[in-house]
Amino acid sequence: MAKDKKVLVVGGGGRCHAIVDALSRSPQVEKIFCAPGNAGIAAQAECVPLKDTDVEGLLAFAKEQGIDLTVVGPEAALSVGIVDAFRAAGLRIFGHTRAATRIESSKEFAKVLMDKYGIPTAGYRSFDDFQAALDFVNARPFPAVLKYDGLAAGKGVVIAANAAEAEAALRSMLLDETFGKGRVVVEDFLTGPEFSFMAFVDGERVYPMPLSQDHKRAFDGDRGPNTGGMGAYTGLPFITEEDRAYAQEHILEAAAKAMCEEGCPLSGVLYGGLMKTPDGIKVIEFNARFGDPETEVVLPLLESDIYEVFEAVAEGRPTAEPSWRQAVTLGVVLASKGYPGKYDKGAEIIGVEQIDARVYHMGTRREGERLLTAGGRVMMVVAEGKDIRAAWRKVYQEVGKIGCDNLFFRRDIAHWALDGRLLDGKALSASIKEDLKDRVSKLEVKYGRKPSLAVIIVGSNPASQVYVRNKVKTAIYVGMNSRLITMAEDVSEEALLQMIDTLNRDPELDGILVQLPLPRQINEARVIDAIAKEKDVDGFHVLNVGDLWLGRPCIIPCTPKGILRLIDESGIDLTGKTAVVVGRSNIVGKPVAKLLLDRNATVIVAHSRTKDLGSVTRQADVLVVAVGRQNVVTGDMVKPGAVVIDVGMNHDAEGRLCGDVDFTQARLRASWITPVPGGVGPMTIAMLMENTVECFLARLGA
Ligand code: AMP
Ligand code: GLY
Repeated sequence: MAKDKKVLVVGGGGRCHAIVDALSRSPQVEKIFCAPGNAGIAAQAECVPLKDTDVEGLLAFAKEQGIDLTVVGPEAALSVGIVDAFRAAGLRIFGHTRAATRIESSKEFAKVLMDKYGIPTAGYRSFDDFQAALDFVNARPFPAVLKYDGLAAGKGVVIAANAAEAEAALRSMLLDETFGKGRVVVEDFLTGPEFSFMAFVDGERVYPMPLSQDHKRAFDGDRGPNTGGMGAYTGLPFITEEDRAYAQEHILEAAAKAMCEEGCPLSGVLYGGLMKTPDGIKVIEFNARFGDPETEVVLPLLESDIYEVFEAVAEGRPTAEPSWRQAVTLGVVLASKGYPGKYDKGAEIIGVEQIDARVYHMGTRREGERLLTAGGRVMMVVAEGKDIRAAWRKVYQEVGKIGCDNLFFRRDIAHWALDGRLLDGKALSASIKEDLKDRVSKLEVKYGRKPSLAVIIVGSNPASQVYVRNKVKTAIYVGMNSRLITMAEDVSEEALLQMIDTLNRDPELDGILVQLPLPRQINEARVIDAIAKEKDVDGFHVLNVGDLWLGRPCIIPCTPKGILRLIDESGIDLTGKTAVVVGRSNIVGKPVAKLLLDRNATVIVAHSRTKDLGSVTRQADVLVVAVGRQNVVTGDMVKPGAVVIDVGMNHDAEGRLCGDVDFTQARLRASWITPVPGGVGPMTIAMLMENTVECFLARLGA
């Protein structure tokens, strides 16, 4: 195949950069021009100073340069009829005719089309009279969806929460004619996750692209004003293959067919802005072009030669189904501070050369060697990975290399797909208990005796009673011998020590556990240290604690051991990672820190009242919170991608169980997180059983 094709790409932003990038991988393309292009595109194409709507100028340029194919990015160029003009002049062009572009440029055209051909979308009515529209809206439930019927630069949709907002929007659209004279479509309000489904379309032929999802709001957690898109990714876990196939057939292929029947066949990209509602997949909008920023994450996955696809569609001939790589991509937009409102331009951007990922420029300019911001959305960094998690880690690592004091970006792109996976201590402890059960029965065969545990409870504190009963029950479940020894609330320290002494000397007993806390008349430390070191299943004995810190063999306390087991469950390699432990108790915080240090992590132990605790916790790849107070760690205090272990067990104002971490928010940031309850608690009991078996083996000298 000769590498001799000359291509003109019309447009400028990140979307065009991605198109130019894809074309530059074509084995047929010799030279790419881009009008007007931008500072990033200039590295891969020759930028031509012509406006994207300057049809005359572009046509003259294409003829003069002997362009083989023109590819149109923005809708504005399509709606002024660039395709019609090029075709009339006998030039090859990829993009829809002006008539076909109405599927995007006229909301009413699209609605009527969908109605007529049974394409699923929100119910609607359209109006040109202000009062009639207002009456209709007020007679229906809010929120009301109001769409100006025409191109309104993405500002033509208002979701009005109440009558006042609806009236203001209708007034601006129909009376003040803010966007020009036009009609308004009033739609049913739909709910569900939105996603984008693009396809190359040539008449009735539809070649689908991978699904993607845009993030329209400016700030983390989908808050703040609407923007042109702050990031996107492919590989949507909430859309099944069945959903996708349905949307291809009943939406994209149905629309392509409908447009043929209407006498205005499509010949470019059809973009379905879709929503997965409780009643199935429905169309929110159609666009007649590549989406932005979706294109920047979708096109990098294209394996086939994009020139061939563009040329085939432009010529109206069939081509092979394009093939796509089985990876996922994730892109983060860096925008000027203040965007989508007022912002400054001209801030210097450094570090872009060091980025090991795709960088698509949206609004930059060069001044000599320096790269400066020149728009609201400035650039998009797109990384690829085997799964969304890998792509996510990579993209934020690369974004971190950019230095600029006037940029911001969202830290939660793909959060729909990324909710922290649960470190399910309940399930893990259940499987540990099954293993122990098996082990205990084998030990009994081998040694002629079962491991045995004595649990002492003093007094009748209801919480303590629940804990000890659970421990005894679990011991019985795994097949050990266990006894529960109950002593009166007012028992003397001496009587308790006497009991421990008897148990220490019992040759058949392997583990002794005294449920804490103890009544006031008893010195806890003395009691704990009275337990024979080799029967100390809790690992609290002073000699066990000493051995732990000295790195000698010892009984590791149950809760810290359980926490470490949960961290391992996440698959994280602790070497060189930063672990932050909030809470410095001797029975959880400090031993956990020691165990993490032994795994070569960098460990920071913090008090819960540390000033600006967030600046410490945000460094944590592993965050363990063992304080016992609600919301010690809020969502924004969690480093994206962290493993979060919440040891706290508290009750909120309504009496519901909650941890130390704001779970709902933290889950959006963490890669793994423990639920409350069901995280650390069940693990502690499983580890207690494990420790009893260890004591048993140690006492046998095994
Ligand atoms: P559009 O400009 O058509 O993409 O609309 C902008 C946004 O408004 C969409 O991405 C949706 O989030 C929202 N929207 C539009 N139509 C509806 C609808 N019928 N129900 C709920 N949300 C909608
Ligand atoms: N990302 C939405 C659009 O391109 O219209």
